[in-house]
Amino acid sequence: MYVCLCNAITDRQIREAVERGATSLCKVQVHLPVANCCGACEDTAREVIESHVDARSAPVAA
Ligand code: FES
Repeated sequence: MYVCLCNAITDRQIREAVERGATSLCKVQVHLPVANCCGACEDTAREVIESHVDARSAPVAA
């Protein structure tokens, strides 16, 4: 789904940035111009980042 309509950035692109090591909105913005225009997507972008960072750091069940 599109998270940032101003820059046509999807949740998948944001998750890919997290996979490359970005763990905060500021760090994702190094890779993507998300939330740099109207800012309406900022909260959603942060939620996508935080949930994916949490998912990556969760221990894998044995
Ligand atoms: S919707 Fe992302 S900056 Fe406007």
